[in-house]
Amino acid sequence: MEKLRIMSVFGTRPEAIKMAPLVKELAGREEIESICCVTAQHREMLDSVLKVFGVRPDWDLDIMTPRQTLSTITSRCLLGMDEAVDQLRPDMILVHGDTSTTFAGALSAFYHKVPVGHVEAGLRTYDKYSPYPEEMNRKLVTAIADLFFCPTESNRENLAGEGITQGVFVTGNTVIDALRTTVREDYAFSTEALNRLPYGRKKILLVTCHRRENYGRPMEEVMSALADIARRHADVEMVYPVHLSPVVQECAKRHLSGLPNIHLTAPLAADEMHNLMARCYLVLTDSGGLQEEAPALGKPVLVLRRETERPEAVAAGTVKLAGVARKDITAMADELIDDPAAYAAMAHAVNPYGDGQACRRIADAILWHFGRGERPEDFAV
Ligand code: UD1
Ligand code: UDP
Repeated sequence: MEKLRIMSVFGTRPEAIKMAPLVKELAGREEIESICCVTAQHREMLDSVLKVFGVRPDWDLDIMTPRQTLSTITSRCLLGMDEAVDQLRPDMILVHGDTSTTFAGALSAFYHKVPVGHVEAGLRTYDKYSPYPEEMNRKLVTAIADLFFCPTESNRENLAGEGITQGVFVTGNTVIDALRTTVREDYAFSTEALNRLPYGRKKILLVTCHRRENYGRPMEEVMSALADIARRHADVEMVYPVHLSPVVQECAKRHLSGLPNIHLTAPLAADEMHNLMARCYLVLTDSGGLQEEAPALGKPVLVLRRETERPEAVAAGTVKLAGVARKDITAMADELIDDPAAYAAMAHAVNPYGDGQACRRIADAILWHFGRGERPEDFAV
């Protein structure tokens, strides 16, 4: 029997971290030829992940431009995908999550009449502009996809509420599979400054911030809050690997450079980031991925957003929505830094997002879809 040609398409850092273990799982299946096409919506941040996980793309659209707009990303992906799909002739295209690459990858698959599997399906805020443009991207991909790999039961319920019940699997999130390969107790950082941080002696706060809907006023408030927290707490060291977006770089440097207990660094390689998270005290972030990883590592998270499509860890008590107002963020951080009971109440490891078996379930589900295997069991907490 001919092998199934399964083409994974991704382009940004988080998609790469969450798709790399799946690309490898597919490559290990004898019924499948795993094809990897990157759009390189992120160039440096994508390449860093490919290196960490040892993934070599078969096709690279190399679309990134400085300060790219949503229209340029989508149109450059679509144009580039035409040739890739024509040449590589996949039996199915897999896209991940909710970026512009995700949307353009799914739309291109539809234009070529190739079935689509959506990894990390069913996340919703039901607010069209928050996160922007991600909420719309994932809804549009839902309309196109044939298979839906939901990380959690509540993601499956969201799809059921939209009338989608066929081809839906609850798999867990592949990010937990990735974490299992990167986090090690004896890990030594290749960024020397990270080896020298005062782990145990001071409270290490790990910070990231990049979302488009936070550009402008909300990001100004967030950065002011970070500066307040650093000034107020001598027992805190803040590590902030700054996203390469020029908008974020400018705002972070203007507010935070020069403060002695804030370390602004280049983006960290995924293994460095995961191991730093495993050793930190508290995470402040507007990232989706960090909201999933930190709870698995037992680290409390303050989310620098007004809403979240990841309510599971909020329900489990390890993640709180801090919003984007300076005084709210500082008040919530103050409490977690100063009150051991408040901290202990949040700092317990929970795994609502997966058990490290998501990639196996997704590969099994694809084979089942093509009549070549058993339907996998759903992930349950
Ligand atoms: C994108 C995704 C967002 C995701 C985020 C993860 C869209 C619309 N947004 O947002 O959902 O959460 O990635 O980080 O798909 N840049 C570089 N080098 C890099 C990466 C980025 O220089 O390796 C700079 C470029 O100037 C680029 C800018 O950052 O134009 C913004 O990148 P872009 O992918 O448009 O948006 P993100 O904010 O990264
Ligand atoms: N990450 C990383 N280096 C960094 C910052 C983040 O490897 O300097 C990882 C992080 O651990 C997570 C993913 O990148 O796995 C999240 O990506 P990002 O926050 O850019 O996007 P989002 O998840 O919000 O879409």
